[in-house]
Amino acid sequence: MASLEVRPALVADVKPIMALVNELAMQQVMLPRSPASVIENVRDFFVADVDGQFAGCGALAVTWTDIAEVRSLAVHPLHQKHGVGRALVEALVADARRLGIPRLIAFTYVPGFFAKMGFTVCQHEDLPHKVFNDCMHCPKFLACDEIAMTRVLDAKASPPKLFGKPQRAIPLPQRTPGFQGPEPERPRNAP
Ligand SMILES: CC(C)(COP(=O)(O)OP(=O)(O)OC[C@H]1O[C@@H](n2cnc3c(N)ncnc32)[C@H](O)[C@@H]1OP(=O)(O)O)[C@@H](O)C(=O)NCCC(=O)NCCS
Repeated sequence: MASLEVRPALVADVKPIMALVNELAMQQVMLPRSPASVIENVRDFFVADVDGQFAGCGALAVTWTDIAEVRSLAVHPLHQKHGVGRALVEALVADARRLGIPRLIAFTYVPGFFAKMGFTVCQHEDLPHKVFNDCMHCPKFLACDEIAMTRVLDAKASPPKLFGKPQRAIPLPQRTPGFQGPEPERPRNAP
């Protein structure tokens, strides 16, 4: 019986992550990642080892305080259909819960797998604009054919009314109530 371990990624995993994700991307089953995007976001990644050998990866990209995206989920073809993908998603879900994130999303070509992981299909238009920030770097920008799916981890902290509403602008820096210190100088043209 093979041993399966899921653990946070190390920089030594960048090479096998890149090799697997981009091999699968060439088969058009997922989107490619640049070396920089994997290296800079290595802390988002979890890796699955089967008998001590790299067998797959997945990343949790925090988009906002109430939403995170499951990205770059990939299991080596030799290890697929043996529970590795499920173990990776479970690790990402546990990490999202640890961070207090109430909702996950995924853009995928394998809705059947994500349905098994508790996700349901939603409309791209129903998602907050912020989740599309990285789409600008995607080769399929403006021609996205991935299916959007979502899984609520904490219904109270993620009311459905958040969906479909325009994102509020990021607030300008303002004084935290109770902060002790001299009044900040106002910019000359401030209203
Ligand atoms: C999709 C993928 C991550 C699944 O990983 P996996 O290790 O093969 O999946 P698991 O063995 O953990 O499967 C868990 C469950 O999902 C089901 N499942 C797996 N792949 C599925 C698929 N393509 N469609 C429908 N159900 C699927 C399994 O039958 C299993 O169901 P069960 O618990 O009822 O037995 C893997 O096939 C893969 O890397 N595919 C190529 C890349 C890709 O599509 N990534 C997703 C990008 S968003």
